[in-house]
Amino acid sequence: MHHLLPLFAILALLAASAAATAPAKYSVEFHTTVNNNSSFLLEVNRADAPLGADRLWELVTLGSPAGSASYYDLNGFFRVVPQFVVQFGISGSPAVSKEWMNKEIKDDPVKLSNTRGVLSYAAAGPNTRTTQLFINFADNSRLDGMGFAGIGTVTQGMDVVDAIYAGYQQEPNQELIYSQGNAYLHSNFPKLDYIISTTAKDLSLA
Ligand SMILES: *[C@@H]1O[C@H](CO)[C@@H](O)[C@H](O)[C@H]1NC(C)=O
Ligand SMILES: *[C@@H]1O[C@H](CO)[C@@H](O)[C@H](O)[C@H]1NC(C)=O
Repeated sequence: MHHLLPLFAILALLAASAAATAPAKYSVEFHTTVNNNSSFLLEVNRADAPLGADRLWELVTLGSPAGSASYYDLNGFFRVVPQFVVQFGISGSPAVSKEWMNKEIKDDPVKLSNTRGVLSYAAAGPNTRTTQLFINFADNSRLDGMGFAGIGTVTQGMDVVDAIYAGYQQEPNQELIYSQGNAYLHSNFPKLDYIISTTAKDLSLA
């Protein structure tokens, strides 16, 4: 019997295999309410930020079959700071937010700089990334030194990103989105733009 793995080792292996490993290269198309339902396309090279890329892949391939639902479905673009960033990634459903808000991942070293069109995770300090993301509207490479590792780059539809409704800027209250979801956003910020759905594609074999 001594050749069998102890139970704790088996459980550790199971836990490790449960975390999704992203393809070496993938894309995510974000279908949005912007400009009568236009889309933008993000491309990710896993080597740029492996932990962040794995989490994003996990979030956009939830559901069964994988890819039929995404964490980002019906998420509002709740923070829009012109010439700086657009931020999103709090679920419209408080139950779903609750499930993910404490699943923090470790930081990746910064390899991809926060230039225009680059997507990074929002964070509340070291090793606090979960689901919230931002896209840089401008060259924000000063964020690199603060530990924000770029995950991917918008390669098509940056005009759509630029057109996300910016009238509310930083008014939507993040705690109220976490606790009340889209009911809060719909009743207080009727013009807010949303992600409708996402489509993830493995490009590593292309
Ligand atoms: C959206 O569609 C409406 C109705 O077809 C049109 O009037 C409007 O100009 C369109 N807006 C944009 C930003 O494309
Ligand atoms: C945008 O998509 C939504 C949901 O899929 C749909 O209800 C709506 O009619 C679409 N609007 C336009 C202008 O195509």
